[in-house]
Amino acid sequence: MKRIVFFLACCLPGLHTFCQQAAPVSIIPEPVQMVQNAGVFMLPSTITIEAPILPAVKPILDMLQQRLSAATGYKVLFGNEMPSAILKLSLNKTADATIGSEGYRLNVSTTNITISANQPAGLFYGVQTLMQLLPAEIESKSVVQNVKWQAPCVTITDYPKVGWRGLMFDVSRHFFTKKEVKDFIDQMSKYKYNLFHWHLTDDEGWRIEIKSYPNLTKKGAWSVAKTGYFGTFSQPLPDEPKTNGGFYTQDDIKEVIQYAKDRFINILPEVDVPGHSMAAVASYPELSCTPGADKYDVIAGESFMDWSHGAPPIALKDNTLCPANEKVYVFLDKVMTEIAGLFPFEYIHVGGDECPKNFWEQSDAIKALMQKEGLKTMEQVQSYFEKRLEKIVESKGKKFMGWDEILEGGLAPNAAVMSWRGEKGGIEAAKLKHDVVMSPTTYAYLDYMQGDEIIEPRIYATLRLKKSYEFEPLLAGVDPKYIKGGQANLWSEQLYNVRHMQYMLWPRAFAIAECVWSPKEKKDWNHFVTKVEDQFKRYDIEQVKYAPSMYDPIFTAQNTNGQLQIELTTEIEGLDIYYSFDNSFPDQYYPKYTAPLTPPKDAVMMKVITYRGYKPIGRMIAMPLAEMQKRAGLKK
Ligand code: ACM
Repeated sequence: MKRIVFFLACCLPGLHTFCQQAAPVSIIPEPVQMVQNAGVFMLPSTITIEAPILPAVKPILDMLQQRLSAATGYKVLFGNEMPSAILKLSLNKTADATIGSEGYRLNVSTTNITISANQPAGLFYGVQTLMQLLPAEIESKSVVQNVKWQAPCVTITDYPKVGWRGLMFDVSRHFFTKKEVKDFIDQMSKYKYNLFHWHLTDDEGWRIEIKSYPNLTKKGAWSVAKTGYFGTFSQPLPDEPKTNGGFYTQDDIKEVIQYAKDRFINILPEVDVPGHSMAAVASYPELSCTPGADKYDVIAGESFMDWSHGAPPIALKDNTLCPANEKVYVFLDKVMTEIAGLFPFEYIHVGGDECPKNFWEQSDAIKALMQKEGLKTMEQVQSYFEKRLEKIVESKGKKFMGWDEILEGGLAPNAAVMSWRGEKGGIEAAKLKHDVVMSPTTYAYLDYMQGDEIIEPRIYATLRLKKSYEFEPLLAGVDPKYIKGGQANLWSEQLYNVRHMQYMLWPRAFAIAECVWSPKEKKDWNHFVTKVEDQFKRYDIEQVKYAPSMYDPIFTAQNTNGQLQIELTTEIEGLDIYYSFDNSFPDQYYPKYTAPLTPPKDAVMMKVITYRGYKPIGRMIAMPLAEMQKRAGLKK
């Protein structure tokens, strides 16, 4: 009877929106508090928005206007006072203590939508949530017909877990254009990241115009173009043209900073010294301690570092700035003056990672410096360099940040540490009462493979989505006062183009976004997976690439009494695995995997695919059994 009354009520014109079936709410990162109420809000064909027209709010309105009209074809109007507006953005007159400086409250009812916040950033994040409440087609860049442009009725209170929610992008190993960088920033802003760490210099390219050292971009931004597996390329020949690379002019940098600011994203510039500096040394060989540096070129992806002895690596060519050379500090002073003049953010990141010491060990100038300063180890030599650099950075009104190697040999007095070699550097620095950003390889290295190396573009380590989702920047036993937040890093050695950049970023950057925004107790892997799939639908419409690796099976090869046994599992629930050993392509009529398998004696290849119900969902993987034997330790 109740259902009949409900059905009849829904036929009455005024109650129509109340009774519309709402899709399940799917928001990344998961809000702190959310109640889904009955009914939906239908977007009218003229969307009216009331909002304070302030310089910091105007970009939000421009973005809303663009994003709400492109796919719907609807008209969007906004103004300071629009009493009948269907969407109201307001800044609180008295601060709402619960939501802080980046939080918001969002209410969608059948008749209107309100978003309130203490600061414009909160309004921006409220709008991002609202966009995810609308149908996936809202991501279309052109008008889509026959879509019910509706949002479920919800009441949301939301604010971030940590204040530093970062993504690092390495544009040195491979250059990405200003437009590509802006697109990266735009995409990250949709998931409430607020920090773009721009890795601007490395052995493979110096990417920022420095007016006092023009060779940095005249020479240091260019290398010989190579294709294949980065790190193993042939040595460039002296007469090979250097056509690969690029750089950002200072006007480009200013434009990107403004673009990011409009999306409530700060930019942390990184100039990676004293190691990772071949582009600088090739441009200005007098910055090196090593005779013959004038013959050096920007690295084009050839091998020049020996990692076989662990860290620090042994350099085959000296890619360091010389700590015993006063010209280096003059150089850094001028570079930091220009960087500090461009970037409004309070920190400058100066790298400090993976600095080889073997050329320093050979250098008379370094030996003399050690004697003069009473330095006993090469780590102390680096620490001497970092302390001088900290003074330079601070003299420009900026704070100093480096990778966790800057702890070795003694941390500079006010340095902030970015912990990448696991969490231990961060823990140690926080104990020393230094600020810390957590970005451990364990969870947050997005250049690592997302699945089995038999199908993923090869790199030396693997980090699956599920592991990324376990990231927790606020560690038990560490004073949270010192943990500024967390970030993920996308190194670009193996990123040859923007599509592959997107593939490596998503969906793991969804996971990290949730880990740095949402409370721990709101995280739920299975629910997260359904939300990732909802984002995939959006990305298909928006034509952003993502990795489908979470659908692929995980192979474990075991040596069971001298026999190969293969175990298959899946990263996500609800998938079936079908396989063959006869080289043909398995489908749902093939044997379904239920227990560890011993391959037939003469088989050479296992082919595997996952299904959800009757739909193939993973990629067809061809796994040579020789590879399985090797992994099981049965064959070299
Ligand atoms: C790093 O990954 N070398 C900071």
